[in-house]
Amino acid sequence: MKKRIAIFASGSGSNAQKLMEHFKRSNEIEISLVLTNNAEAYVLQRADNFEIPSHIFDKHEFYKTDVITDLLKNLDIDFIVLAGFLWLIPKNLIEAYPGRIVNIHPAILPKFGGKGMFGDHVHNAVMLAGESEGGITIHYVDENYDEGEYIYQAKYKIDKSDNLEMIKFKGQQLEHQHYPRIIEAVVKKIKK
Ligand code: GAR
Repeated sequence: MKKRIAIFASGSGSNAQKLMEHFKRSNEIEISLVLTNNAEAYVLQRADNFEIPSHIFDKHEFYKTDVITDLLKNLDIDFIVLAGFLWLIPKNLIEAYPGRIVNIHPAILPKFGGKGMFGDHVHNAVMLAGESEGGITIHYVDENYDEGEYIYQAKYKIDKSDNLEMIKFKGQQLEHQHYPRIIEAVVKKIKK
């Protein structure tokens, strides 16, 4: 039996796409479901292209009910990957998946993390701070933004001439390069 991953994403889903590509031919692991809080999110189109089912939910469902946890359990989901998902994960979900929820953040945490620090906000802050390097952090998820145990970090150089687009591009390249293989290594170690 394959281990089953659910991806949570709020936007474009380029990392989700890399994960779908990576596990498409795996005999051990599959992306079984894509969930989003945003009915307009392009990640829904990407899931469709891979014939992966998706589910759209709202704040009430997520924070005030067990609908999402029940859905994941009913679909026999083993592991959760956050890929540009912007809402805090509620306690019931963390308790249902202890040590089985992982996030990617476009900075070398603990720098440039916390509430409101997502996507371009992070890249902008890195640029304004005049940093000479940027990076990514892959980490376990707890009840606070960007605070769970780190699994992997990687860095890239920032040149003085780099603009926001360039910084974002370098960060995305690193994310796409490492997220699928790190997820594979972590998921291989868990019990079905
Ligand atoms: C990624 O860069 C990811 O690190 C970031 O959102 C982007 C989503 O891009 N996540 C956060 O900032 C979480 N705090 P994508 O939709 O193209 O994968």
